Amino acid sequence: MSDSSRSLDDLRTFLNSTVGVDLQQRMKFYDSWAETYEQDHDTLSYRAPHQMVEFLLDNFSGHPEQVQVLDVACGSGLVANLMVELGFKHFVGVDGSQGMLDQAAKTGLYKELRLALLGTEPLPAPTGMFDMVMIVGALRDGYVPVSVIRELCLAAKPGGYICMSRNGLKSESGNKYKVSMEKELQLMEEEELWSHVITKEMDRYMIDVSDNCEDVQNEKYLSGTMYLYRKSLNESLST
Ligand SMILES: C[S@@+](CC[C@H](N)C(=O)[O-])C[C@H]1O[C@@H](n2cnc3c(N)ncnc32)[C@H](O)[C@@H]1O
Repeated sequence: MSDSSRSLDDLRTFLNSTVGVDLQQRMKFYDSWAETYEQDHDTLSYRAPHQMVEFLLDNFSGHPEQVQVLDVACGSGLVANLMVELGFKHFVGVDGSQGMLDQAAKTGLYKELRLALLGTEPLPAPTGMFDMVMIVGALRDGYVPVSVIRELCLAAKPGGYICMSRNGLKSESGNKYKVSMEKELQLMEEEELWSHVITKEMDRYMIDVSDNCEDVQNEKYLSGTMYLYRKSLNESLST
C-alpha cells in the first residue's frame, strides 16, 4: 500500500481522466489503482458496500454460514469483508481487473477468484449454483453492461437472491443506463425469471468528484439505487 494519500482534488483529476475510456482501458486503470483503491475510497467516503450489506440484512432471513455468495465486480473485496462480519463464509469473486483480484486474494476470504471482462466474456459461474449474487459499484455506464443482469440471475439457484446497486450519476449516459436497466429488470419479471423483493434508494454513498459537480469543497454526494430480486423457483423458466 502506498503511503501517499490523494486529496479529493487529486481524486477528481484522477477519476475524470477515465471519462470515455473503453472497457479494456478501464480495467488497466483499475489495475493501476488497485493498491490504493481502499485508501482512496475512504477519502471518497465510499459507503455503497455498507449500505448494500445493511439492505441485505434487512431483507434476508436465512443461515448466512450456509450461503454461497457470488461477488460480481468484487474489486478489492470490500463487500465480502463486510458480509463476513454477518456470518457469511463462502465467497467466489469475479472481476475484470487482475490487480483488483490480487487485492481481493489478500483478504483470504474467497474460495475462488475469476478474471472476466463482463459484457464481452460470459460470467464465469455455473448456472444455478449461488444462493446470493451481489454486484456493488459496477452497474453503470462504461462498466458492467445491462445485458449481464440476465447472467447474474442465471448464476443464482432457484429461489436465490440477486442483490444489485446502481450508481446514480446524474448525466445523460447515467440516465440512459437507469432507463435501460429498469426496463430489463421489469422484462425479466414479466418473463417470470425472478420476482421483485424490494428497491431502496442508496443515499450519499460517495462524494461526487465528477466534472458535473463543481462544488468539491462542499462535498456533494452521489445517491443511487439498491435492488433485491429473487430467482424464480420454476427451474424450466429460470435455468
Ligand atoms: C467501483 S469498483 C467496486 C468494487 C467493489 N464491488 C466495491 O464495492 O468496492 C468497480 C469494480 O468493477 C470492476 N468492473 C467494472 N466493469 C467491469 C466489467 N465489465 N467486467 C468485470 N469487472 C468490471 C472494476 O474492475 C472494479 O473492480
